[in-house]
Amino acid sequence: MKVLRVLLAPLLALPLTAAEPPAPEALASQARGLAGNLMLSLQGELFAAMKSGGPVKALEVCRSRAPEIAAATAMGTPWKIARTSQRVRNGANAPDEWEARKLEELATRLSAGEELSALEAWEVVEVDGRPAFRYMKAIGTASPCLTCHGSALKPEIASKVRELYPDDRAVGFAAGDLRGAFTLSRPL
Ligand code: HEC
Repeated sequence: MKVLRVLLAPLLALPLTAAEPPAPEALASQARGLAGNLMLSLQGELFAAMKSGGPVKALEVCRSRAPEIAAATAMGTPWKIARTSQRVRNGANAPDEWEARKLEELATRLSAGEELSALEAWEVVEVDGRPAFRYMKAIGTASPCLTCHGSALKPEIASKVRELYPDDRAVGFAAGDLRGAFTLSRPL
């Protein structure tokens, strides 16, 4: 009987430990990894499209591929991944209340001297009465981004942006500005 209990003990312990939510740092590390993967895929696809078809073609690629690449990055994980910003091009990327608050926090921390590449924020929150983990990772503005997000867009790019996004607010950025953030969430 004693032997049986000894044998069973680890098995019985298993569901209990499995039900324990992972530590916030471990969740943040998962989210950081996924955000990094998404950034690499997006940039890879964007720069390839710029090179092969030019910026006007790349604009269309961005429009159709960005959400698909985000969904592919999250596939097989419990995470939802998207991009957001205080000034969005696509209204579908507009921040919710929590994201708006965190974006403001990231912007304040950036002006206080924090390194853009390391700017992130996370929190355990309730979504529809259930605990969820939410994470944001800042996206900086680099010089290649200015072709489509800067203050002096070429006329053909400006007119394509206007055509695809009549309510665009994602111009006028400078290199080093906070462009937005990757936003990730998962239920706990
Ligand atoms: C070829 C033009 C082009 C370039 C270059 C470009 N973007 Fe964009 N960007 C777009 C388009 C188009 C969208 C809207 C995508 C959509 O409809 O979801 C967008 C959307 C975004 C968004 C999502 C929030 C929003 O405004 O809707 C972020 C964040 C972003 N871009 C960051 C960047 C960064 C960082 C770079 C440089 C590495 C960059 N972009 C370069 C065209 C471009």
